[in-house]
Amino acid sequence: MRIAVPAETQGAETRVAVTPETVRKFKGLGAEVVVETGAGLASGISDADYEAAGASIAATAAAALAGAAIVLKVRRPAQSEIEGLPAGALVVATMDPYGNEAALAALAKAKAGVTAMAMEFMPRITRAQVMDVLSSQANLAGYRAVIDGAAEYGRALPMMMTAAGTVPAARIFIMGVGVAGLQAIATARRLGAIVTATDVRPATKEQVESLGAKFLAVEDEEFKQAQTAGGYAKEMSKEYQAKQAELTASHIAKQDIVITTALIPGRPAPKLISAAMVESMKAGSVIVDLAVERGGNCELAKPGEVVVTPNGVKIVGHLNVPGRLPATASQLYAKNLLAFVETLIDKAEKKVAVNWDDELVKATALTRDGAVIHPNFAAKPAPKLEPEPVPAVEGSVTNG
Ligand code: NAI
Repeated sequence: MRIAVPAETQGAETRVAVTPETVRKFKGLGAEVVVETGAGLASGISDADYEAAGASIAATAAAALAGAAIVLKVRRPAQSEIEGLPAGALVVATMDPYGNEAALAALAKAKAGVTAMAMEFMPRITRAQVMDVLSSQANLAGYRAVIDGAAEYGRALPMMMTAAGTVPAARIFIMGVGVAGLQAIATARRLGAIVTATDVRPATKEQVESLGAKFLAVEDEEFKQAQTAGGYAKEMSKEYQAKQAELTASHIAKQDIVITTALIPGRPAPKLISAAMVESMKAGSVIVDLAVERGGNCELAKPGEVVVTPNGVKIVGHLNVPGRLPATASQLYAKNLLAFVETLIDKAEKKVAVNWDDELVKATALTRDGAVIHPNFAAKPAPKLEPEPVPAVEGSVTNG
């Protein structure tokens, strides 16, 4: 059973799908692991590190892929890679399928029956927590957003009482308190900032307060109903959004750094910071928009850019924020992959054995035997608004 790890082909991708640690574990399961030369370099892993862990190094992607039963990647194979995939292989990656139905169809048609599995569709159930790439990567994005915000901010974050004068603590406001937002609060607190946070889900109030931050939200009847059974946010009414904007506008004007992480499954990111709000902020303040890849929470954010407004506010719109911590992001992503792939292997026979009745397989499998099989894409191209059911979310968030 051969596992292939070709180098990522998207120029900006710094992460890699296996680490020496997971290579050793795969070897222990009886697999042979072949890594394309240089695949780990951007994550600080050399070919020699992989070899020391028992992998062999291939000079090209084609050589790595030859005869592989399993292909592990960070991103969905690009069009140019699809024809090189081995017949019948399991291809496991973050597949980013929404809006990319043509790429899915191309994957389905690749050679004889490539099975493409989307890690981001992993159900958020207790058994699959260790495989939850959305959580492992969002947690790092939340941390990195504070670091990026601090780096752009021309002042210190903690209060400092020095002989030359007192430096006030920075005020940091976190909008959206899911996995990324919780880690952003924890990180900003550790760096000594005065932290406030907002969300539309009532469950977040206690979480914010338990991290030592102050909660700010319009707590009306709609707020009480804002959490879906799956634990996600609903899209709020125009009336609620107006009340929310009114409440946050005067608060934002007093902040030094605002970090936005608000997302609604299957919808564009809610617009929480208008151009007028940006204009109300002091010169030198910073907005970090983690939702920029989904349309942005800030009206003026631009994907992949740091915009400086005429009134001197910096709006940070970095893409692939987990990839800005490549070594840690790869370490956690590779563990998520290992935990899932282990469930797809018959350990006694040392071969791939997919249990098609397993709920993890049903939730993640996009293509099989030449067809797109995932219910969100097979019958009609329009995505469902809610991801796969998420039972038992209370108290099971994996980050601190
Ligand atoms: P997400 O990335 O979908 O959204 C981020 C945050 O934005 C959410 O907290 C959401 O309520 C908030 N938001 C949406 N619209 C907003 C608005 N207009 N204003 C302010 N905030 C807004 O969320 P994520 O990080 O995926 O977490 C979703 C849920 O899943 C949470 O309840 C989390 O605790 C839970 N979870 C459960 C896990 C498990 O059981 N294994 C693992 C990870 C998360």
